[in-house]
Amino acid sequence: MNIIICKSVHDVALQGYEVFKNQLISKPHSVLGLATGSSPILLYEELIKGVKRQEVSFKEVRTFNLDEYVGMDGQHSQSYASFMRHHLFNQIDIDINNTHIPNGIAIDLNAECELYNTTLEHHHIDMQLLGIGSNGHIGFNEPYTSFDSVTHVVKLKESTRSDNVVFFNSIEEVPTHAISMGIANIMKAKKIVLIAIGKKKAQALYNMIHGPIHESCPGSILQTHPDVTIILDEEAASKIQ
Ligand code: GLP
Repeated sequence: MNIIICKSVHDVALQGYEVFKNQLISKPHSVLGLATGSSPILLYEELIKGVKRQEVSFKEVRTFNLDEYVGMDGQHSQSYASFMRHHLFNQIDIDINNTHIPNGIAIDLNAECELYNTTLEHHHIDMQLLGIGSNGHIGFNEPYTSFDSVTHVVKLKESTRSDNVVFFNSIEEVPTHAISMGIANIMKAKKIVLIAIGKKKAQALYNMIHGPIHESCPGSILQTHPDVTIILDEEAASKIQ
């Protein structure tokens, strides 16, 4: 694991941008796995600036998002589809038809998961961006999700729902389920970049990097991936030796 510890959250975004820039320059038709949550927002801002400076382009890029809330229409302001349009897709030169996000309002959710898996099999992810939950989840793969899991419907832990309540008016509004890429899907990416910010993530990062490789900390499986870059601010890195 290549671990980069940055002095500020802005530096985390800049370091992340460098990794994306190198990827997009070396392979303009990259398949990128993308994440939502508060951690990637500044990085997405840097990517938008990079496109404006004509340093990077998404014209030939295809993207797959990690997850989407169940029961949430892509037009809902808190859907991850809406998040991605707002924070990235609407401001870069990507063809929206080349962006993939699970459909949280599919009538047959299992069929939707299968379709996502099949589409992923046809488009090998070159680089996957990840955040990490305070309980060690990656995507929405909560503790004790099988390392062999592929895209599936997840029942969210109450701790995850309360971590995410900041995006909603009340806990009742936070969905109880999501569709998430599985851990096996994530591990297939050629390269993984994980970004984390703030003290709240410090223990999860310690467990992910130094803990046993165990399903109690989904992120710990990354110890077995051959190409992982972890970009952290000093608070998130505070428990790492
Ligand atoms: C969310 C998302 C994850 C994200 C994580 C951290 O629940 N499903 O993909 O990485 O939790 O979110 P944040 O960056 O807001 O702390």
